[in-house]
Amino acid sequence: MNSSEIIAFEKCLPEKIVSNDDLSEFLETSDEWISSRTGIRQRHVSTGESTSDICANVARGLLEKAGMSPEEVDIIIVATISPDYFTPSTACIVQEKIGACNSFAFDINAACSGFIYALSIGDKMIKSGIYNNALIIGGEIMSKIMNWEDRSTCVLFGDGAGGALLKRSEEKQAVICEDLHTDASKYSAILGHKVPVKSKFAESDYDGSEDYFTMDGRAVFNFAIKRVPEGINKIIEKAGISFDDVKYIVPHQANLRIVEAVAKKLKLPMDKFFINIDKTGNTSAASVPVALAQMTEEGLIEKGDKVIITGFGAGLTWGTILLEI
Ligand code: UT7
Repeated sequence: MNSSEIIAFEKCLPEKIVSNDDLSEFLETSDEWISSRTGIRQRHVSTGESTSDICANVARGLLEKAGMSPEEVDIIIVATISPDYFTPSTACIVQEKIGACNSFAFDINAACSGFIYALSIGDKMIKSGIYNNALIIGGEIMSKIMNWEDRSTCVLFGDGAGGALLKRSEEKQAVICEDLHTDASKYSAILGHKVPVKSKFAESDYDGSEDYFTMDGRAVFNFAIKRVPEGINKIIEKAGISFDDVKYIVPHQANLRIVEAVAKKLKLPMDKFFINIDKTGNTSAASVPVALAQMTEEGLIEKGDKVIITGFGAGLTWGTILLEI
């Protein structure tokens, strides 16, 4: 049987840290408002690093941990909503930066569910038997798509990248089961940078009001606390396991209050959930792989452990995977 195994996790967070107090120097906000509403106390922010820079650092770290050369890489998938360019994909630029000249590379856009979707895609490509390995990376420079005058969104996000190296395996199975969804009827709840049709032939009256990221926070909150527990319950049922078999649930780090509401619905203690949002803010597609890399570094998870990873965000998309480390 062809299956895929996780060989390593890696993360890269820009060095610059911006605290809630730093934000209150130029925004009408406070540490009290941000931390009590979201659990966020600080975030890492780029001082010039691009999305491909931090994703390439993740790719290099993964290859080093695996003892692999860049020439051996088959597939590079980057999940991002803050690419360097519309085209080429950020994954192509990562290929060039690390010298993975025998790979093919592409991006996917599934917002904060991006890493979950990308892991599913990479897993299936390896299961096809055609490819041996894949670098699956979620990376964002969210700071460049924020409206820094909109306190309701810019305080929530941070920059970073994280990833996993998947390799073909005869014995192990990384993705045990999954549950992926999109409900585009609510797509306007999160919009990131409109691209209006402006050409010699177009009549455009676009006023620039959607040049930046906008979000209906309440709508997303309500969507998340319904769909995330639903997805987790489905995975437990599909896999025929109990929560005792799962070492951790690693949720997309969007808001501590969302995780608390999910824990309550599932009747699980908060220590079943990994949380690092206080240090990172919401890094969109990077949040789950950054968390997994941190958990590995801290010895919280090791080979053979089962974890549930879950993401939700613009689209609206959501997805849940039962993963064996
Ligand atoms: O990856 C998915 C990403 N999306 C999410 O995770 C979003 C989920 N939603 C949320 O996390 C919450 O809805 C927010 C944290 C975004 C907002 O919390 P809320 O309790 O829903 O607040 P609100 O938007 O209803 O705003 C309450 C008040 C408003 O003032 P008034 O109208 O009551 O006077 C806002 O203007 O808080 C004000 N406000 C702020 N005040 C200080 C909004 N942002 C800020 C701020 N600092 N940064």
